[in-house]
Amino acid sequence: MAYETLIVETRDGVATVTVNRPDKLNALSDRVMEELDAAFAALGADAAVRGVILTGAGEKAFVAGADIGELATQSPLEGQERSFRGQRVLDRIERLGKPVVAAVGGFALGGGCELALACHVRVASENARMGTPEVKLGIMCGYGGTQRLPRLVGKGRALEMLLTGEMVDAQEALRIGLVNRVVPKDKLLAESDALIRKMLANGPVSLRFTLEAVNDGLEMPLDEAQRAEATLFGLICSTGDMKEGTKAFLEKRPAKFQGK
Ligand code: COA
Repeated sequence: MAYETLIVETRDGVATVTVNRPDKLNALSDRVMEELDAAFAALGADAAVRGVILTGAGEKAFVAGADIGELATQSPLEGQERSFRGQRVLDRIERLGKPVVAAVGGFALGGGCELALACHVRVASENARMGTPEVKLGIMCGYGGTQRLPRLVGKGRALEMLLTGEMVDAQEALRIGLVNRVVPKDKLLAESDALIRKMLANGPVSLRFTLEAVNDGLEMPLDEAQRAEATLFGLICSTGDMKEGTKAFLEKRPAKFQGK
């Protein structure tokens, strides 16, 4: 499928989705959000795609936020609808059922930071700068940032970022757990690819159920979440991958998972 604002390429089971508006630092216009929604729907349904890397075009930015030109004139109801729409797109990414790695090269601000937060892990280049500067524009996060950021880095650190609107550099993002690792700029995509392929060497159903247990479980009381985990654990015992994985270990050979 051809997109106006995205490039989607797939190689050996890994799709790379690149937000491609480098002259606007890959700002999330309504068009970008519609295309991200369509692209992730297609990638979720494509059995040949086992994981996704999400990144931004150009040297300077992952994504520098929602498109401020579009935000500037919105009415309250349009703002609420835009927020709901954006939240649904980011939820789709978080709920893809396959690992999604954000490769953050440069600025990840506002909606761009929220987009990175919806991915399962984040790899940053040394020049990455992340933040939620919405308060400087007289607005606030609207794509889940007030919820995902404190869940990831803790309430105190999240509130410092959300209330000051100041950016953190890559090392600080690493220190507070906002990103998983920091790599040289010219290795960003290669390191992201290597990380996702480590995940994809494992059983696809194991990955899907683990993502489901973590995503759903963190929203539940512990006992309910653990029951949900036990149900998934029981279900996974019915899969060929479970039989193959345990058998391969006992036979001292690599497992060949089929994803069923
Ligand atoms: N929405 C729309 N356009 C944006 C944008 C955004 N969020 N972020 C950057 N751009 C555009 C700029 O307007 C500029 O366009 P122009 O060349 O047509 O004037 C272009 O991208 C390059 O940005 P510029 O500001 O010239 O780059 P810089 O290196 O001087 O500064 C930033 C980089 C990231 C510090 C600065 O662009 C910025 O503060 N962006 C907004 C970040 C933000 O508030 N995001 C939250 C939005 S809710």
